Amino acid sequence: MEFLIAPIIVALLASALAFAISIIDKHLNNYGDVKININSGKKVLDVKGGDKLLTTLFSERVFIPSACGGKGTCGACKCKITTDVGPILPTERPYLSMEEINENTRLACQIKVKKNLDIFIPEELFNAKEFSGVVEKINDLTYDIKEVIVSIGDESIDFVSGRYVQLVIPPYGKIKEYTQRAYSISSKPSEKNKIAMLIRLIPNGIVTTWVHNYMKVGEKLKLIGPFGEFEKSDCKSTMVCIAGGSGMAPFKSMFHDMLEKDEIDREVWYFFGARTIKDLFLLEEFKEIEKKWPNFHFIPALSASLPNEDWTGEKGLITDVLDKYLKFEIDPSKHREGFLCGSPGMIGACNNILSHNGIKDIFYDDFS
Ligand SMILES: Cc1cc2nc3c(=O)[nH]c(=O)nc-3n(C[C@H](O)[C@H](O)[C@H](O)COP(=O)(O)OP(=O)(O)OC[C@H]3O[C@@H](n4cnc5c(N)ncnc54)[C@H](O)[C@@H]3O)c2cc1C
Ligand code: FES
Repeated sequence: MEFLIAPIIVALLASALAFAISIIDKHLNNYGDVKININSGKKVLDVKGGDKLLTTLFSERVFIPSACGGKGTCGACKCKITTDVGPILPTERPYLSMEEINENTRLACQIKVKKNLDIFIPEELFNAKEFSGVVEKINDLTYDIKEVIVSIGDESIDFVSGRYVQLVIPPYGKIKEYTQRAYSISSKPSEKNKIAMLIRLIPNGIVTTWVHNYMKVGEKLKLIGPFGEFEKSDCKSTMVCIAGGSGMAPFKSMFHDMLEKDEIDREVWYFFGARTIKDLFLLEEFKEIEKKWPNFHFIPALSASLPNEDWTGEKGLITDVLDKYLKFEIDPSKHREGFLCGSPGMIGACNNILSHNGIKDIFYDDFS
């Protein structure tokens, strides 16, 4: 037992010191009034120094992506800071490539505003807004996936299919602060005053536990967005789309949008990987799309179907099913593009299969 005492004392002293430094920094270091110049004068903010750049921008209603809510664990809050703000921090390093470091890219949630700053953010982020929503409907799609439809009343959201929003949930139980996470929009862009999401329960996950166990119809919540770069291309390529679980969300939005815009001359192959029948959902909806869109092929596949399950569709790992179709069904003489959405493991494995079959243009939305 004694061998544990010294490290525990050191850890306690280090935390006490860090806490004391943060209090001293907050109360003694008065950074005063500071200017943040965004995109060479497109917007200039007069703010009080002392907070993190992400928090300061949020309080001025400039919303940049922050899927982890500022904890330094998602790498989404990148922006270019051309003013010298000191060396890259160890917390930033895992999320920045050498190229980004050379271009002065930093994580806004890790940089404190201490002096005038010149920063650059993608222009489309000026369109991101905070929406006050009311939960209109909660549909159980499977035992662990819910469709949540949020009405944003008279407000309207402009987005391209494939984008995501950040859902902000209130404190509950042992969670003492507001928490936000990223969710792809599953409704179509023409439905401007509602935002739908497909949310899979992650055991012990903060936001998904609230959504699955606490959220009620009529509940008020905030959504921030739209964010992201995932979208279909504008060319006429054959789209090879692969999703698993709630990765269905951006494709649901995309295909309904294409159908509505009568873009049905485009060939689409949509693979949906699940383990067993109880992990499948919205089958009828995609079969209906197939009826209206002759070039649309929906291929759900079960990787662990049970012997007694009534399933006549594809069986096997989604990678094997994808490989088979790429080799024998999907015309290789046409330009093909890959679109992937879901867990990093599924994206990595399917990316390899697409590449091995000669597909070079691959776009993905990683839910990690
Ligand atoms: C751009 C983007 C779009 C996204 N879109 C969707 C979407 O449409 N639908 C959706 O359901 N999710 C989506 N996600 C994931 C979502 O943002 C959350 O990460 C997820 O819902 C978990 O949140 P949580 O607060 O419940 O869990 P947390 O409290 O953040 O995590 C709890 C623990 O679970 C682990 N964990 C987190 N995610 C997973 C996972 N997927 N599988 C296994 N373990 C995990 C964490 O490492 C952590 O240890 C998206 C993520 C990104 C970055
Ligand atoms: S907000 Fe997630 S790393 Fe900065």
